[in-house]
Amino acid sequence: PLYKLSKTDDDDFTMEELQKKVLESIEFIQSRTALKPEIGLVLGSGLGGLGERLRDACSIPYEAIPHFARSTAPGHAGRLLVGRLGAKTALCMQGRFHCYEGHPMAELVYPVRVMSKLGIRTLVLTNAAGGMNRDWKPGDLMLITDHINYMGANPLTGPNAEGFGPRFPDMTTAYTPALLYLARKTAADLGIQLREGVYLGYMGPSFETPAEIRLFQSWGAGACGMSTVPEVIAARHCGLNVLAISCITNLAAGILNKPLSSDEVNETAALAGARFSKLLMEIIARI
Ligand code: HPA
Repeated sequence: PLYKLSKTDDDDFTMEELQKKVLESIEFIQSRTALKPEIGLVLGSGLGGLGERLRDACSIPYEAIPHFARSTAPGHAGRLLVGRLGAKTALCMQGRFHCYEGHPMAELVYPVRVMSKLGIRTLVLTNAAGGMNRDWKPGDLMLITDHINYMGANPLTGPNAEGFGPRFPDMTTAYTPALLYLARKTAADLGIQLREGVYLGYMGPSFETPAEIRLFQSWGAGACGMSTVPEVIAARHCGLNVLAISCITNLAAGILNKPLSSDEVNETAALAGARFSKLLMEIIARI
């Protein structure tokens, strides 16, 4: 079967070639660090600060890694860090890829596949999101309990990536129940308020309209954003445990009588950063 990883790659290639590319990416990362990461971390818009907490870190720009895409979104450094976080070893993506940058979904989830073949078993994702509950405040943190894929695409379309996972992966518990429990318990122990809700993935890059937000509220979504859903689907496909937390950087369009901006998103995420990092570091210590 033919499989296209990237629009810029003129040649289609087979699943065996996808596996070969992943191995080349892994060999490159392993040539830069002897650390063996157990936990993968994806740091979203304005939330890259946790990366600075890694000890003995090796930093690799995405463009140096064979077959990685480039990160162009504001607030995304575009670096892969491997280092120690407490007693754990983590691989941290400081910035991610989004559909709205023009990346095909298979390219966007490529790093998740690299992580799974590097031996990572748990993926922790963060993002900035618009809150749809009017009682919430910018800076609140929301544990993602489930998602709605409203992106109009799925990273697993096309021939199944044999050797990664099954054709029809189950998504009943996409967000690992034991990690949901651990996140709630850790937040309570630290006295950090943790909201909960369903995350709706929206393609972007325009923000949603107030009419769309009313629709998504009626579907039971608590927050919406332009990421995370593809990575979670690919992570569950290859059997990773998943934990995801949103930083509610703004109330979604039409809830307050004011326009949305990406500056506001990054500023609010940066203000929440220290609290977010504290929570994540303690959760990771307890995994
Ligand atoms: N909508 C979509 N994505 C977002 C938002 C929003 O309101 N805030 C931060 N990312």
